[in-house]
Amino acid sequence: MQQPQRRARSFADFLPRSPEDIPQVYAWFERMRTSQPVFYTEQMPIWQVFRYEDVQTVLTDYNRFSSEETFGESSLLSNTLITTDPPDHRKLRNLVNQVFTPRAVARFSDRITVVTQDLLDEVKATGTMDVVSDMAFPLPAKIIAELLGVPAEDWDIFKRWARFGGAGPQQAPENGGPVRTMRDEMIDYFSDLLATRRKQPQDDLITSLSKAEIDGERLSEHELVSFCFLLLAAGQETTKNLIANAILCLTDHPDSLARLQQEPALMPGAIEEVLRYLPPVWFLFRRTKQEVELAGQHIPADQMVLAWTASANRDPAQFPEPDRFSIEREPNRHLAFGHGIHFCVGAPLARLEAKVVLPMMLAQLKDLKRVANVPINIHTGIVFVIESLPVTFSPA
Ligand code: HEM
Repeated sequence: MQQPQRRARSFADFLPRSPEDIPQVYAWFERMRTSQPVFYTEQMPIWQVFRYEDVQTVLTDYNRFSSEETFGESSLLSNTLITTDPPDHRKLRNLVNQVFTPRAVARFSDRITVVTQDLLDEVKATGTMDVVSDMAFPLPAKIIAELLGVPAEDWDIFKRWARFGGAGPQQAPENGGPVRTMRDEMIDYFSDLLATRRKQPQDDLITSLSKAEIDGERLSEHELVSFCFLLLAAGQETTKNLIANAILCLTDHPDSLARLQQEPALMPGAIEEVLRYLPPVWFLFRRTKQEVELAGQHIPADQMVLAWTASANRDPAQFPEPDRFSIEREPNRHLAFGHGIHFCVGAPLARLEAKVVLPMMLAQLKDLKRVANVPINIHTGIVFVIESLPVTFSPA
């Protein structure tokens, strides 16, 4: 692995590419928290922030650290919930909260159980599975599709978008038509679905969103389509990796795995520990609105700031023995879902999916082990992605 260093030119230079790299990256975080907790990387240029307290400040203090223009103006995510500051953020968030209620999420519990069981039934007799392609990928994709109201017959289209986070390759033009990006495809698809739901309302999120109002104001067509994209982009890879990371952590810590098989009641705490120890999201961006001082460093206005939530989650000032994986850690105020006004809207759904799928996997896949000598492909951007995670178990 290329060591994180001063001459790094892209974020990828700092990130792990295989499980063996992970301890080195955490060791680098530790050095940075101690020696240069707010570090300017001239080549990118960007300010990197490593300590829990400072990361929390960057995420919370929206008056000084803005979420606007953090994804690039051409992104479908620009001007969505995740890239706006108050007062616009407050309006959008209130609207989303109206439809993304705990009740709306809880009613998915039975569906998550059914989908998980179907997926387990496909592999149970074989004694092997790829945790990513056989479970962690299809489960959240199916649930987000159903939550939005994507009809079952469109599952294959949606699956392709989910695989590429909506930013996939261009489609070969059909009948000599113009080249279409996945983004064009999604915009057209969701616009049509919205129009259909306006005529024939159903009990789904798209229908609720199209009707939701704040001060008599509805979301514009563009805002609605972008929000559908945001849910897919923010909810799919992250939840997929929560499930994969949990199996990675538990197969690496067989004592914890055995304990959870005996005492499933410990599972909610174990999920929080996975989120802290090996989070799906490693860092978040903000942009300074004015000159700020952080940990004694002066950061000029209009600078990009990279807040390492993965480093904050291992800060010994917040977590005693931070490098120990402990399923009974309490308190565990990790920053895996962010903090402050942008705290993850989908956290209850992601937690619910993990709380259903992990106990079912541990109960039904006895003697669960990682396949020895098979490299796990990891690539890391904002989301830490495990591409493949082969395991064996006793065939049922
Ligand atoms: C384990 C799974 C997940 C993780 C680790 C995660 C992580 C995060 C984080 C760190 C943020 C804060 C972003 C920021 O401060 O800039 C966030 C925001 C958000 N997440 Fe999640 N997320 C997960 C699952 C989901 C799901 C399942 C959905 C929806 C289906 C979702 C939708 C969103 C949305 C809409 C926001 C923007 C909230 C706002 O800006 O007010 N996330 N997520």
